[in-house]
Amino acid sequence: MSTGAPHAELDAIRAAALSELEDALDEDTLEQWRIAHLGRSGKLTLVLRTLGSLPAEERQALGAASNEVKALLEERLAARREAVQSKGLETLADDAIDISLPGRPVRIGRYHPSTQIMREICDIFQGMGFQVVEGPEVEWDRYNFEMLNIPKDHPARDMFDTFWVDANQDAEGGFTTLMRTHTSPMQARIMEAHDPPIRVVIPGKVYRYEATDASHESQFHQIEGLAVDKAITFANLKHTIYEFARQLFGEGRKVRFRCDYFPFVEPGVDVSIDCFKCDGSNPSCSICHGAGWLEIMGAGMVHPRVLSAAGYDPSIYSGFAFGMGPERIAMLKYGIDDIRHFLANDMRFLSQF
Ligand code: PHE
Repeated sequence: MSTGAPHAELDAIRAAALSELEDALDEDTLEQWRIAHLGRSGKLTLVLRTLGSLPAEERQALGAASNEVKALLEERLAARREAVQSKGLETLADDAIDISLPGRPVRIGRYHPSTQIMREICDIFQGMGFQVVEGPEVEWDRYNFEMLNIPKDHPARDMFDTFWVDANQDAEGGFTTLMRTHTSPMQARIMEAHDPPIRVVIPGKVYRYEATDASHESQFHQIEGLAVDKAITFANLKHTIYEFARQLFGEGRKVRFRCDYFPFVEPGVDVSIDCFKCDGSNPSCSICHGAGWLEIMGAGMVHPRVLSAAGYDPSIYSGFAFGMGPERIAMLKYGIDDIRHFLANDMRFLSQF
């Protein structure tokens, strides 16, 4: 069992192999090491191959010593391989995902408050048999004004500060396209394209060229309503609005109609509900400021001129129309004090709804 001096070459082979093995840190290097030291053309094999040419005595001693070295190297290789493999697992374990940790919450999206209130409002009217229709935001002067009994140079145009679009001009160089200032042009479009009876609500964006403040935005929404048939009366308008107000603001709400002027209705009204916060009893109420009433929309009976401009005979057909601002309604309903919150995209505001 000696690997002593007579076998200096064997000793050198063994020492070199063992020291190289120390540097083998992965399986590939280990395999290269195995080929170099234990493979068919490895140094140890070459020594074993020369045994045949040696005298019997020497052959036996060198043979035994060589086999001993071979066994040692094989044993060390196996041990090293095991170490490298479990080291690999350790590294894996360091990078591993701990599946027992609680997950990170996924932020769930939500509808914008304007969308929510518009859907709620449209749902109420759908329940009364109204169809929901949408229309263009870039509109012709014809629909936004002229067919609604607001001819050119009519002073009522001052009610609607207009963003004009310079894409189209008339013979005198006046702009003929605009960002719609209300959803009312859809009254004319619907009547022009369909025969009565008509019952529609039209939600959508509208634009006004005005300075913004807590109650004015240059972009907001409206929901238009239109019902036309034979024998539609103001009583039908009242019923519809009563029903709407009570579904949205609570059973027992009072509704008030007062005369107001819009060129496309006659008679025209503004509609208020009694204050749902203080019932008119608190002079410093944050919602009605003591007025007791909250204005929620404009409305009226469709003007005969609007009916005939759209091709309906006003001696046969009549109708009512209304228009409201869902942001204003949401502000009343949720106590929001500034309309500019709706477009500010501040998550602290948006995530409350
Ligand atoms: N279009 C009007 C506005 O924007 C509202 C309205 C609609 C009034 C329908 C009466 C009838 O102020």
